Parts: sequence; C-alpha cells; structure tokens
Amino acid sequence: MRKLLIGAALAAALGTSAAPAAAAVKVGLMLPYSGTYAALGEAIENGFRLYLQEQGGTLAGQDIEFFKVDDESDPSKASENANRLIRRDQVDVLVGTVHSGVALALAKAAKESDTTLIIPNAGADALTGSLCSEQVFRTSFTNWQPGFAMGAVAADKGYKKAVTITWNYAAGKEATDGFKDGFERKGGKVVKHLSLPFPKVEFQPLLTEIAALEPDAVFTFFAGGGAVKFVQDYAASGLGKTIPLLGSGFLTDGTLKAQGEAAQGLLTTLHYADGLDTPRDNAFRAHYAQAYGGAQPDVYAVQGYDAAQLLAAGLAAAQGDAGRKDVLRQAMRDATIDSPRGAFKLSKAGNPVQDIYLREVRGDRNQVVGVASKALADPARGCRL
Ligand code: PHB
Repeated sequence: MRKLLIGAALAAALGTSAAPAAAAVKVGLMLPYSGTYAALGEAIENGFRLYLQEQGGTLAGQDIEFFKVDDESDPSKASENANRLIRRDQVDVLVGTVHSGVALALAKAAKESDTTLIIPNAGADALTGSLCSEQVFRTSFTNWQPGFAMGAVAADKGYKKAVTITWNYAAGKEATDGFKDGFERKGGKVVKHLSLPFPKVEFQPLLTEIAALEPDAVFTFFAGGGAVKFVQDYAASGLGKTIPLLGSGFLTDGTLKAQGEAAQGLLTTLHYADGLDTPRDNAFRAHYAQAYGGAQPDVYAVQGYDAAQLLAAGLAAAQGDAGRKDVLRQAMRDATIDSPRGAFKLSKAGNPVQDIYLREVRGDRNQVVGVASKALADPARGCRL
C-alpha cells in the first residue's frame, strides 16, 4: 500500500498517472445485521468469506473488496439500501438477502441497473419464477421447495387434516402454500391457515385456535428469533404432546441452542442437514469451525459459501473481469456447485435443483434421516428465460 501511495505521489509530481493496481472485484453484501434475522446474515457472510479464504483470498486471481449494508429485513428501506451499493459504491456483484420482501426490491434494482445478483437465502418464488431474469441467481431454495417436500412426507405418514401457521409475508405464505400443494396432491387437507404480521411473536391466540381445530399435524414456517419463540411456545402450550409440529427446516436451523428441550424430535425438511457425513461436508464443517472459533455451520452458512463458489465459477470463465457480464452469467448458469449439501446445478430460471432432506432434531443436531424429495426443481411458474 505504502509503495503504491509513493508511486502515485511520484506520478502526480511528474504529471503522469500511476499504473492502477489490479482492480478488485467489488462485492456488495446486502444482508440483515440487526433484527430477528441478524444471525442469518452473519452466517451467510461467514460462509462467503470462508470460501474466499480457502481460495487464498482471491477469486480467479482477483482481490475481493466488500461493501456492506444492513438491510434490517425492512422492505420499505430496500430500494434505497440497494442503490447505496449499486450507485454509490458501484459494486460489480450484489449478494443478498435473507428476507423475501427485501429481496424482491433488491432484484428489481439489480435488473434495472443490469447488476448481477446472487441471492444467498430469500426464497420468494417469483425471484426465479415470474420475475426471473438474466441478472438473478440463487444459491438457496424457493419457499415452495421445502414446504412441498414436507407436504408429501406428512401425507405419507397418514395425516389427513393439517393446519398451517406462519408470518404473513411472501416466505410464510409460499412455504405454507408449498406444503398444501404437496399434502393435498396426496389426499390430505389443509383445514385452516393462520398467520400474524412479520416479525411479531404473539402466538398465544393462534395456539388456542389450533387446540380447538384438533388437526393431525401443524406445518409452520418461522425462522431466526421468531422460530426460537414459536417452538418454545408450542411446547409450553402442551400441543406438542398430541399434535406433531412440522416445519420447513428454518424452524430449527441455527436455533437449536436457544430452543433446547422444546425442539427435541421435531421433523423438518430442508436442503441441508447435520450428519450428511460426506467428505465434502466434513471438510467444510471442519474449516468453518476452525475459522469461527468452533462454531458449527448451518444452512445459511452453506448458502453463503455456495454464493462465493458460484461467483468464482463466473469469474474464472471471465478471466477475473467482472465487466464481462455475459460470459460471467453464462458460466454461473452452467456451473455445477460442489456444495456441502451435495453437488447441484441451477435450473434455467436460476434456482438450485436439489435434494430436500428429512431431518429430526436430536440434541443440538438436525440429523438427516432420509431424502424427502430427490433432485427437486421448483416449477418456476411464469419464468420465460
Ligand atoms: C425469506 O424471507 O425468504 C426467508 C427468511 C428466513 C428464512 C428463510 C426464508 O430462514
């Protein structure tokens, strides 16, 4: 750095310009670093940085320069936050975010400015459905995917009548719709859909309603801090003893320490699990623990790690030049990602085609107990790519 400054000063004195240092690729991280999803944002960034570290700190020979915005999982601030990264910081690539509502605005800004966007969590179906675009990629899931897989599991268990409960925004609505789709295709019936505004946690009146409805099972989408509270409240209400609680796996991912006894035995479906015991996942987990003081990775860390892998594939094809957008994007669309969850490719619409695992909470683990749905592709309704 010092050498560079001296060089620049000398060049200025001579009236010439210094040869620019190799330009870094600018990556804008738009993630929640506060609020109910704060831990999720942190895990995504940790995963992304871990892959970079494993590559010796560069991708395709390029330094990576990070720009960060805390999006607070607040859709009303999403456009402004996205434009900070796009216009002020002039990032080459956006990585974000967790909350579906925020991601919808982020994708719009990415499209309008022709900026490549990698979504490392938010599952809004439309992002790789009716709103799909050449700029947008996802290394996570659609909200439909784990919900649909659990619907089939529940029907196969012989449950006939289910209630769904969630936050009233895209992720909750679509996850429970996915469950309904999978459950009703196999003869089950969702008799009631209950919801409350995001990120509220006053579950009591809704739990009373569930008790009165006496379903065979309850399916839910909650995540982060809200998931901790819901699982605790469900157990405390006594419902857990008679009505099995099922969830998309976010219900118990990254939350088990806080949920403790209340989560034991819960069944969930997700594209990652503990105990996969593959060489790829074992190596990832060992590196993660080493890099982050013994912490165990969760699904969010995996999605962040894979976002970095996806970008690396694009940059390698573009020989490190993020300005070659067509080459970068084509390579990203064609890439096989060697993910800790198991290798996957993206659909034409840009969403992972992936196995959805069935997991059971045992101690502090979401132990894999099977594959609920093999190579599940989102239907990508309305995508015309
Ligand atoms: C979403 O808003 O899409 C979302 C948020 C948190 C999760 C999963 C999905 O854990």
